[in-house]
Order: sequence, then C-alpha cells, then structure tokens
Amino acid sequence: MPEKRYYITTPIYYVNGVPHVGSATTTLLCDAHTRYRKLRGDNAYFLTGTDEHAQKVADAAVKVGKIPQAFVDEVSQRFVECWQYLGIEYDSFIRTSEERHKKVVREVFSRLQASGDVYLGVYEGWYSVADETFFRDTDVDENGIVKETGAKVERIQEEVHYFKLSAYGERLKAHIDAHPTFLLPETRRNEVLAMIEDGLRDIAISRKNAGWGIAVPGDPEKVFYVWFDALINYLSDTGWPESPDWNTRWPADAHLMAKEIYARFHATFWPAMLLGLGLPLPKHVVGHGWWTVGGEKGSKSKGNIPEPKAVVEALVAASGASESAAKDALRYYLLRDIRFTDDSEFSLELLANRWNADLGNDFGNVLNRILKATYFDGVVPVNAPLDAGLAALAAETVAGYTKALERFDWGSALASVWPLLRAVNVYLAQKAPWKAAKAGETEAVAEAVYNALEGVRLATYLLSPVMPGVAAEVAQQLGVASLTDGTWEESTRFGTLPGGIRTGEPAPLFPRVDTKILTLTETPMETTPAPSVATETPAETSNEITIDDFLKVELRIADIVAAEKVEGADKLLKLQLKIGEEDRQIVSGIATAYTPEELVGRQIVVVYNLKPRKMRGVESKGMLLAATDAEGNAILLQPDKKADSGSTVR
Ligand code: MSP
Repeated sequence: MPEKRYYITTPIYYVNGVPHVGSATTTLLCDAHTRYRKLRGDNAYFLTGTDEHAQKVADAAVKVGKIPQAFVDEVSQRFVECWQYLGIEYDSFIRTSEERHKKVVREVFSRLQASGDVYLGVYEGWYSVADETFFRDTDVDENGIVKETGAKVERIQEEVHYFKLSAYGERLKAHIDAHPTFLLPETRRNEVLAMIEDGLRDIAISRKNAGWGIAVPGDPEKVFYVWFDALINYLSDTGWPESPDWNTRWPADAHLMAKEIYARFHATFWPAMLLGLGLPLPKHVVGHGWWTVGGEKGSKSKGNIPEPKAVVEALVAASGASESAAKDALRYYLLRDIRFTDDSEFSLELLANRWNADLGNDFGNVLNRILKATYFDGVVPVNAPLDAGLAALAAETVAGYTKALERFDWGSALASVWPLLRAVNVYLAQKAPWKAAKAGETEAVAEAVYNALEGVRLATYLLSPVMPGVAAEVAQQLGVASLTDGTWEESTRFGTLPGGIRTGEPAPLFPRVDTKILTLTETPMETTPAPSVATETPAETSNEITIDDFLKVELRIADIVAAEKVEGADKLLKLQLKIGEEDRQIVSGIATAYTPEELVGRQIVVVYNLKPRKMRGVESKGMLLAATDAEGNAILLQPDKKADSGSTVR
C-alpha cells in the first residue's frame, strides 16, 4: 500500500473574485504548512483551485459579454498567476468545470440518493446570490439584507433536491467530541457544537438550471447548488472512487479557510456528506479570522483591500529591496498577523512596522553586521564552543514553534522565533567581537561570531516555510548551498552550521522602508483577465550596480512652479514642475517637512524616466530626490547654484 500523503487544502476561490491579500492569506497558510511538513520529512500534498459554477459567475460573464465557460477559462488564470507571483507551490489546481470533478459530483449525488439521503421538495425562502447561500427569515432584516454579511437577498420558490443534513447532528457531535482537534480553533468548535445543539436543517443541493452548472443526473432542469458541487472538489482531486491510489490523499489532513465558510459549510455540511458516503472525515478543519479595513471585512468588491502585487511594488519602491524580499515580507506580515480567533486590521503602516522592526532590525541587520566585519577573512570559525544559553533558547524555540503548528497557528509559530533573534542581538552586543578583535582575543571572537551566525541560521530555517526566498539569500550569504536540505532533526539542532566555509557577499536583506513614500498605486477593478505576470528577477547577490545600470536612470533639473496638498493624504504634496519646456506633475511624500509655499520657485532633481503611477488617485510622473533626517523627514536635494531647467544630472 503506497504511503499516505499529508494532504492540505485551501477553499477553492470564486472565479469571479480577484485574488487580494485576504484570499492570498489562506493560500499562503497552506503553502507555508506544506513547506513545513516537507521540512519534517512528510510527503506533503497541497490542493487549491477555483470554484466556477456560482450563479454570480454566470452573471459576471454576461456583463462582459462572454459565455460562462470562456469567462472562467480566462479568469481562473488570474489566481494561478497571483499564486505563482507569491511563490506559492501547490501540487494540484482543481477547477470545478473540469470533467474529472463533474463526474465525481454526479457519483456522490447518485450514492447519496441511493442511500436515502436525498429527497425532492420545494424551497421557499431567501437566497443571496452574492453569498450563494439560502437564508432563514431570522437571518435577514426588514430591508432584505443579510444581517451577517450585508448582502441582498431574493425570495425564491422552486422544486429542489434536499440533502438530509438534519439526520447527521448526533453523529457529527459524537465525532467532534471524540476528536478534540477536529475543529480548530476551539472557539469555532464551540460555535459549531451550539449550531448542532440548535438542530441542523436539511439543505437544498439543487437549483433550477439557468444554463450554468453541473446538471443533476436524471433531472436536467436542475443543476447542483454551487456549494454541494464545490465542496466535493477535495474528493475529486484524489481520484475517488476509481483511482487505485485515491486513499493515499484521503482523508485530508487539513482544510484551511476563513470563518465565513467554516461552520455552515466545512464543519457540518461537508462532514455530513462524507459520513453519508461512508468516507473518513478530514483530520482538521481550521478557520482563521478576516483581514478587516476600518473594521469591515476586506473585499475587492468593496475596493478596500489591495492585490498582493500592488503591495509588493509599493514595498520595493519605498525600500529599494529586491522584489523577492518584498514578496517574502508580505508573506511574513500576512501569516504573522492573521489571527485564528479574531479579525486583524490590514494596513501598510503595520506592515512597514513589521518590516522595519522585525525583519530589518532584529533579523537582517544582525547577519549583515557580522558578515560585513569579515572576521577571519570571511570564514566561519571552526570548533568554536557553543553558547549554552543560546543553545537552550534554540531548543525552546523549536519546541514552541512545533507546538503552535500542531494547531496551524502560524502567528504564534513566527512570534516564537523572535526571542531567539533578539537574544542573538543581545549576545552580540555583550560579546562585542569588534572590541575582542581589536584586543587580539581570537578565541572570543570565534565564539561570538559562530554562535551568532548559528542563531541566525536556525532562526532562518524556521522562517523558511514563510520566507523561502530570504532563506535562499541567507544561505548564499552564509556560504552554504541551502539551509533546508538537511533533516529536520539535524537542522533544528543548535551547532550544525559547518565551520571553515567561506561566507558569501553580504547585502542588507531588508533596507528600511520609508513610510513617507509607502503608498499604493491605484489599480482599478479589472473586468478582464490580468496580464500575465512578470517573471521574478533573480535574487541579487550584491547591491552593486554597473555604470550602465546607473545610466539607465535619467536625472534632470526641474523648477517647482506650484505646489498643493493632496486631499486626504497627510504626507503627500502635488507639485507642478517645469522641466525645460515640459510641464509635469509629481506627487511626493514631503508634506511633513515642507509647506507648499516654501517649495515654489525652488530647483530640484527628479528621476525623469520613472514609470508614471498614481498615488491616492493623483498621477505622478517622476520622483524627486531627497535625503531624510533622523525623524524620517525629507531634506530636498537642490543644485548649489541655478542650473538650466531640464539639464541632465550625472
Ligand atoms: N468559493 C468559496 C469556497 C468554496 S470551498 C469548497 C469561497 N470563495 S471566496 O473566493 O469567496 O473566498 C475564498 C477564501 O478567501 C475564504 O474562505 C477566505 O479564506 C478567504 N478570504 C476572502 N476574504 C478574506 C479576508 N478579508 N480576510 C481573510 N480571508 C478572506 O468562499
């Protein structure tokens, strides 16, 4: 019998949606967890995909004048591209319009029908197309709005097939009681138990056929209700029931999702269907909170939450870091701050804080400081004694990290690495190898350098599922081929960094994000597929550039002819420039340092050939050059004496 794989799934994404940082979070949690299980030696398998049969998908297709199948073919690709952009490595991407899925849906229906779990009835009540959910009178307010989600409902009356969910309450409760970690976190488990206690209601699993969906066998006037269809994806991907190895991927080890689709769908309806089929239940169903913006659920239709690419681009522009580092920093922020019990507020400021404090200060700087000093000519000391305090803390860190991940709690797992990183910083400050080196205390320097590097190595190993690009960069700087090739046992033991290796070129991993210029370029809601994604630039090994690289940047003298504040943005000023004969507008984050009045008449240096972008909806064509003071306020660069407007700066 082939080995059972560690099977992890995301919910499958409504194909008419846009992958934003909220939906990316669930996918990233699964990616990190799969990478983690692989580090532990498991044969892990990660499934994601797109949910394509919703009524709202058909409506969206009509709006753009496409037939639904052509529409979903195009937009499913948007998710594939976004996940690729974020370095997400799944094993399978399932689409519910694929034949391999449709035939399993029909099979599940036929089996449930044969076992008496399905009956024909009439549904009369509320339906929300936005939520693709049937609602009770008590769920809806007097204006026809769903209290929980704010979506509009319509009254429907039609013949449907029902699944006898009400018959499964007792068995579900028994399973939940016998498997304390089946439903995670505990608060959600309690909600589900309360729901079962209240009594589960039978659920409609078919709807009238409006030309889009999987037709019900023997009743082509109807298609399956989108949730019945969609949940089955987890099983169809395994190849059940025909494939000889379907049970190497079933039961799933973990289904991960956010809270709105937890209790009603993944923790009751889906397990009851599996019980009806006589199949084992997933080991863990894990629900996380939402990213909110101003307290409201972040959603692309509200336009309040950005797409990952826009955030990465803003981070690169505000820090000068590589795209790969910015992607990893976004991955880190999303998994560090998403919570399992409560919601979390998404903001660029909080992200910049995580970057500057956790990643820049505590993590990146320590490595850079040691490597730049080139103790021992850049060779890792051999046979240095291990520091007992750091070794003990490292063991504690690994234990805390592992424990948190038994419950899929990535926020706590990541947080558990920071005491180790901070201890390495304190250790270095105390041991002061730079002083010991001056005093010629070679052994003391060797001990300090080795232990600090080893602390960073072990921390990076634990961070690698979340920041794989950064882990590769740290490996290069440490002079090893990879930090993740060894076994889990070896790699989590303090003291495995080989001595005698020559370290690589040091380069700052996370140059400081300038919060004054950290702004999103507005990306209008797309109705057509996103263009194919740019391939990732190779990780830089050093931040040196050639003269040719420098000459690509066109710097010119400009005169400021007018300036005003950008409405709704405390830090931004809109400047009208004269560059030679040309009129130009730029937006700049200098409002905390200069009033509009004191700018008019000045000459400045601008990056002339910068790609135009929008900041707070205002077009900016170019960027001015400025230094910053200790508080982060801008100090404008200007020519020493009057220069010709439009002249080139070299
Ligand atoms: N298609 C259904 C799932 C079917 S699974 C059999 C669906 N799709 S969705 O695209 O609307 O949402 C997919 C997932 O995106 C949600 O479960 C959730 O995990 C995630 N998120 C969407 N918005 C989110 C936030 N604002 N915050 C965190 N996660 C959120 O539901």
